[in-house]
Amino acid sequence: MAIKNRLDVDLGDRSYPIYIGSGILEQQDLISQHIVGQSALIVTSTTVAPLYLETVQQVLDAGSVRHDHIILPDGEQHKTVASAESIIDLLLQKRHDRRTTVIALGGGVVGDVAGFAGSIYQRGVNFIQIPTTLLAQVDSSVGGKTGVNHPLGKNMIGAFFQPQCVVIDINTLYTLPARELSAGLAEVIKYGLIHDAEFFGWLEQNIDDLVKSDSDLLAHAIRISCETKARVVEQDERESGLRAILNLGHTFGHAIEAVMGYGNWLHGEAVAAGMMMAIDLSIREGLIDETVRARSAALLEKAALPVRAPAEMSPERFLDAMLIDKKTIDGNINLILLRKLGEAFVSSDYSHDKLLLTLQS
Ligand code: NAD
Ligand code: GLY
Repeated sequence: MAIKNRLDVDLGDRSYPIYIGSGILEQQDLISQHIVGQSALIVTSTTVAPLYLETVQQVLDAGSVRHDHIILPDGEQHKTVASAESIIDLLLQKRHDRRTTVIALGGGVVGDVAGFAGSIYQRGVNFIQIPTTLLAQVDSSVGGKTGVNHPLGKNMIGAFFQPQCVVIDINTLYTLPARELSAGLAEVIKYGLIHDAEFFGWLEQNIDDLVKSDSDLLAHAIRISCETKARVVEQDERESGLRAILNLGHTFGHAIEAVMGYGNWLHGEAVAAGMMMAIDLSIREGLIDETVRARSAALLEKAALPVRAPAEMSPERFLDAMLIDKKTIDGNINLILLRKLGEAFVSSDYSHDKLLLTLQS
């Protein structure tokens, strides 16, 4: 039950630890030491509540923290202003003051909505992330991006809001459906593509056992992913430049999610297809060669992820949705391209004709 790993995100007075281990959710003082006031609101979902809510409640009881909870309906289609409002309603009804702590217990949807509600309630209260999907453990719980979707665009309403700590209990992944584990592996593979060719090679070696939820391999993949994300966020917390590389394939992916209807394509699935499109454009631009495409497609397919956008996505539908993206400035769609395997950069300097070919292919 000991903490196997602790990483720190160094952001001055907004710094915080990421704890990674097996069984650490049950550790008596781990969460309570990061509660500054006397109360907390646990935000969770219909699927996660029966699995882990009681464990967190017991830990808070042991730390004499008064707590309430709210169970949101599951799914991307509920990552809405209405869900954030229901959290705020409960905070007010239960008289939570400015020193309360909002605890997100669940996947990326719960984390994003709960964090956003926490960022605007009384202009910002305390916040703890307990991510229970692989995707949330390697990406969404770290770095302070919170928010909700608008019917016209993904993550269009939100705030940068760093948590007090992130508690990653690898044991929670044992209850995760295989499709959701695969969706998380898309973001893990992303870190190899954008920053770390050696890690990409390690993933190629170990993907078959990662898909089978080997806990030591998952722990390693989570640590490397969180480390990579933390170092990027430390350099560019509010995405004025470098942080955008974390969005490899996401402009294409967000378009797929929005056009196909939130929840139909999982975020990680849409990102997987989107990363292959970013690779396709990088090849057309003469930046990388076919071997990157072949290796990436093989790895994503072994992780049971799609490598092509759905047939319904015409170039027009893509472009319409891509123009509503946070990386689109003054009508210019900024995209993340690869200079080589393990090195990504932000570009608006690509051929529009080549982008159209990528969107058609
Ligand atoms: P999700 O939150 O919808 O969770 C996936 C499903 O798994 C849900 O049905 C959930 O209830 C269930 N679940 C969660 N934990 C479980 C467990 N341990 N056992 C069984 N079932 C469990 O999806 P996600 O993939 O975790 O997150 C996707 C969201 O994260 C998207 O909205 C995406 O935009 C966002 N995101 C945000 C950031 C960021 O930086 N804030 C980064 C990446 C992705
Ligand atoms: N998931 C992209 C980011 O956090 O910046």
